[in-house]
Amino acid sequence: MAQGSWIRRMFEEGAVLKQQYGEENVFDLSLGNPVVEPPVEFRQELRKLAENPLPGMHRYMVNAGYPETRAAVAEQLSLETGITFTMKEIVMTCGAGGALNMVLKTILNPGEEIIIFAPYFLEYVFYIDNHGGVAKILPTDEHFIPKLNVLEAAIRANTKAVLINSPNNPTGVVYSENLIHQLGELLHKKEAQYGTQIFLISDEPYRKLIYDGLKYPSPFNHYSQSIITTSHSKDLALPGERIGYIAVHPDCGQREDVVSGCIHCNRVLGYVNAPALMQHIVRYLQNVTVSIAAYQTKRDFLYDHLVEMGYSVIKPQGAFYMFPKSPLEDDVVFVRELQQHRVLTVPGGGFGSPGYFRIAYCVDDRTLEGSLAAFRKAAQKFNLC
Ligand SMILES: Cc1ncc(COP(=O)(O)O)c(C=O)c1O
Repeated sequence: MAQGSWIRRMFEEGAVLKQQYGEENVFDLSLGNPVVEPPVEFRQELRKLAENPLPGMHRYMVNAGYPETRAAVAEQLSLETGITFTMKEIVMTCGAGGALNMVLKTILNPGEEIIIFAPYFLEYVFYIDNHGGVAKILPTDEHFIPKLNVLEAAIRANTKAVLINSPNNPTGVVYSENLIHQLGELLHKKEAQYGTQIFLISDEPYRKLIYDGLKYPSPFNHYSQSIITTSHSKDLALPGERIGYIAVHPDCGQREDVVSGCIHCNRVLGYVNAPALMQHIVRYLQNVTVSIAAYQTKRDFLYDHLVEMGYSVIKPQGAFYMFPKSPLEDDVVFVRELQQHRVLTVPGGGFGSPGYFRIAYCVDDRTLEGSLAAFRKAAQKFNLC
């Protein structure tokens, strides 16, 4: 608990500030909690269900989730990847967090390693620990891209999986097709070297939040030992509803065991099944997303202003985060400075990369605009311009 989450800490300190100064005078960029409402199609499906309830729609179901929903997810993935998925490779979950815990519990033996790259979503470390695994954290390059030579040296006989996250939280970086391809080749080589199975877990809750017309390069097209964990928390703005899924590559070795393991773990971890109501709804929303253009406009607005003020920041290509360099070596001191001006961000140390800070820009325009004065004051104080 002491290691805790900086994200939650800042969010909670923000709640106190809001009470003190009034909601409209605090500019909270701390949490990836989208302020946009779910798309209209969500309300339409919700209303349809409320007005024409299906018999038994609130009962227990098979732990994997409704076959119709899993088939709809499979169809969407087939469209996106050109690989034929069926419902047999899909398990509905309580968000991406639930999905990751189910996968990790399924594949890990005590002491086995899961490789992750800094900066990373902090919960990964706790999830890996939940299931007796060891998180092996590797650095990335100055563009937050994994270094394959470092990865090659780090993989050992007890490496169970490499866990990637693109578009990335906290950097917004999207891994290129070339990188994913080379990663797949490297993992094949290492599997052959050790005679082991190495999974590539791709955590993709931001897969559809991608800008500048970029196409998402799916690990499924480059490595058959791939498992994706994802949710509709961000692409349909439903984080409170806890709806996501696991998809296992149709050609994954021991695929049936992996899928059955995940289904079993859905039950024994106490999730039992993904929320029934949401499964009925997302079945019809597989090709729907919140407005990407609106997020891209927010990204451009913030990025342009920060760069003009002198901040050093890699332009995000997806998700809704930015990870600028902290003007001070001590990112906590810098974040506290912004907090003095009632702007809440998260120190990079909270993601395993001190010296940076994270901004979540999934907020309304008033909050983004209101935060600029504090960024400018801090830039002036620490001589960025
Ligand atoms: C990279 C990443 N993975 C997983 C999650 C958890 O998502 P969910 O709310 O769907 O469990 C988040 C949430 O912010 C995230 O940023």
